[in-house]
Amino acid sequence: MSTKHVSVLVNEVAEWLNNLQNGGICVDCTVGGGGHSREILQRYQQVRLIGLDRDTNALKIAEENLKDFGKRVALFHANFAEIEDVLDSHNISDVNAIIADIGMSSFQLEDEGRGFSFEKDGPLDMRMGLNEKSAYDVINEYSTEKLADVIYEYGEERFSRRIARVIAERRPLNTTFELRDAVVSAIPLKFRRGWKKNVVRVFQAIRIEVNGELENLKKMIDSSKNKLGVEGRIAIISFHSLEDRIVKRKFLEEGFLPLTKKPVTPSTEEIMRNPRARSAKLRVAKRV
Ligand SMILES: C[S@@+](CC[C@H](N)C(=O)[O-])C[C@H]1O[C@@H](n2cnc3c(N)ncnc32)[C@H](O)[C@@H]1O
Repeated sequence: MSTKHVSVLVNEVAEWLNNLQNGGICVDCTVGGGGHSREILQRYQQVRLIGLDRDTNALKIAEENLKDFGKRVALFHANFAEIEDVLDSHNISDVNAIIADIGMSSFQLEDEGRGFSFEKDGPLDMRMGLNEKSAYDVINEYSTEKLADVIYEYGEERFSRRIARVIAERRPLNTTFELRDAVVSAIPLKFRRGWKKNVVRVFQAIRIEVNGELENLKKMIDSSKNKLGVEGRIAIISFHSLEDRIVKRKFLEEGFLPLTKKPVTPSTEEIMRNPRARSAKLRVAKRV
């Protein structure tokens, strides 16, 4: 299981964080399989790394993959929105770099029991951590209107109202395949050939809602400015336009100096090797 997640823009992240060449502390907010962390630890040998993840399974994989680095690594089970509390509770004031590679890992997507993928039948769960609500609650308990808004806003799905209506008619829905089938039958016949894209957008929207992903991202950027030392850098990889827009705007609002004028994107060679990389966008900024 631990070899399946291929990290995105690894060299680019490490290169942009070259302020770590004189050592310091780097926080990887989404340590996941440990791919970015490993590269940083190998490249910058004086660095100590703090890894966070809200998913305990991810932390187990990271622990295994980073064990060679011994005491240079400390891993914590936490939502990155709480980065400030985690660092405060370990008496860590200024850090030199913060990384976040948001979204899901391949381990999560391929875990049938978690219901993230429309290609595997599983329960309507989609929780990345210890959230209170699951996809089941969103799908079965939200009003039709609220569900349509979630699908429209977080999925940017044009048939959101029709989809929410069909879901409401078929409630209770229990499985990912039931959700997928409801979405497909809500798409007008002449657009149905491209159903996969609609389904991907609906699953994305529900996942964002379940995990409060956009709120967490905003909070993390807010808190990062209190924890990054002067000249410290923050590097964020996002996978869809909603997130990228938040990163771009928040960097400016919080007074960071953007170092990447346009987002850095993967090379054609990387996309060929790892198709999941195709929508990745990296933005880097520093505290001044
Ligand atoms: C794309 S993976 C990271 C992969 C990692 N960079 C690597 O190279 O192996 C994203 C990870 O972020 C975690 N995650 C997502 N949202 C989070 C949040 N709000 N707080 C902490 N971890 C989060 C997920 O559980 C997942 O393990």
